[in-house]
Amino acid sequence: MEWTPNARELADLELLLSGAFHPLTGFMGHEDAHSVIEHGTLLDGTPWPAPVTIHLPDDVGDDVTLLDPEGVPLAALDVATGEVRALGPIEHGPFARLRRTPEEVRKELDGRPALAVTMRGPLDSLDEIVETARELDAVILLMPLVYGEAGPAVVRAALKAAERLPEDTMVVAVPLAPREDPEIDLELRERVAENYGAAEHYPGPEPVAIPGPPHRRGLVVFFTGLSGSGKSTIARGLRDALLELGGRTITYLDGDVVRHLLSKGLTFSKADRDLNIRRIGFVAAEAARHGGLAICAPIAPYAATRAEVREMVEAVGADFMLVYVATPLEECERRDRKGLYAKARAGLIPEFTGVSDPYEEPEDADLVVDTTHISIEAAVSRVLDAIRAGGYIR
Ligand code: ADX
Repeated sequence: MEWTPNARELADLELLLSGAFHPLTGFMGHEDAHSVIEHGTLLDGTPWPAPVTIHLPDDVGDDVTLLDPEGVPLAALDVATGEVRALGPIEHGPFARLRRTPEEVRKELDGRPALAVTMRGPLDSLDEIVETARELDAVILLMPLVYGEAGPAVVRAALKAAERLPEDTMVVAVPLAPREDPEIDLELRERVAENYGAAEHYPGPEPVAIPGPPHRRGLVVFFTGLSGSGKSTIARGLRDALLELGGRTITYLDGDVVRHLLSKGLTFSKADRDLNIRRIGFVAAEAARHGGLAICAPIAPYAATRAEVREMVEAVGADFMLVYVATPLEECERRDRKGLYAKARAGLIPEFTGVSDPYEEPEDADLVVDTTHISIEAAVSRVLDAIRAGGYIR
């Protein structure tokens, strides 16, 4: 079967295939994966600093073709052993020219020692690097670790630094995703540097993230709640209030509206609802990426899918605010503005949220409003207050 790994797994795959993770040649994480025995010790006895895992669905079978997000086959995975085999060129993504394999780089070094400098952001100073390289008589190997949103900026920083370094300095982009544990992260960086022929490794400073001020940062206000809970009405009121205040560009993605175009033709099955929410999340994250404020108001009944959207938004450097419109089912049903609950109870609408389909109440809501006893204006004010308190509007 075919499977598209996530961004982190694809980055690891490229390193497995290029030899940058040598002697690791496959994904770990299966009990019976032959590339790993226990506690990160490889079959040949080499200790390995960090797990390199891939998440697969249960029914995946023995042989899996790993695809890139565009559907191009990248590698064959033997599920039993974790072993991967390239099915085509392994470099992809931007800066492919700079994504060279350890073998190519070692060949070019031709026996000369290298001082590898792994970078996740700009280098503070080049003096120490130049000095160390001179002492070792080493070629400087700048290794921008390209992963995620910051990738291109890191490569540009490396190319700029190279202009001020000796002429034989090499720049090699390496898709090493950061690990949470800084020690493990460092060990992996060292391991990769070594495979690229480095005699010495200099870890560049961690980038100081300077998020823009909140009033310029992207924000996604995501309403969730039952049909008839008041989501759309509050969302619309919020949109109007924000437009009156000015100062922010607004993208408005109401559930019913989205289903007329962006998600036209989708049903209310779990799979289609999830797809609907992912589409909304994708558009909202794009708006927020450019500093916009997106308001979404679908039912979004599944917690995991809402969490995915939160991640998508945070991945572009924007913030996510989940507003749970907690008006209880009885109240939504009593109002029954669209007459849908009556139809659902009569069995005319199958899989109706709250009646014959689940709604998972959020445990991670940033704000909860129940419209049973408060007016729409009051509910809108609460959301506006939260947005103001976060500094998103001035
Ligand atoms: S979601 O589950 O995918 O988030 P979405 O917000 O787009 O739902 O659409 C919900 C709206 O579709 C409801 O407000 C209601 O008007 C309509 N609808 C039609 N069928 C259903 C159903 N089976 N369950 C819930 N809402 C439905």
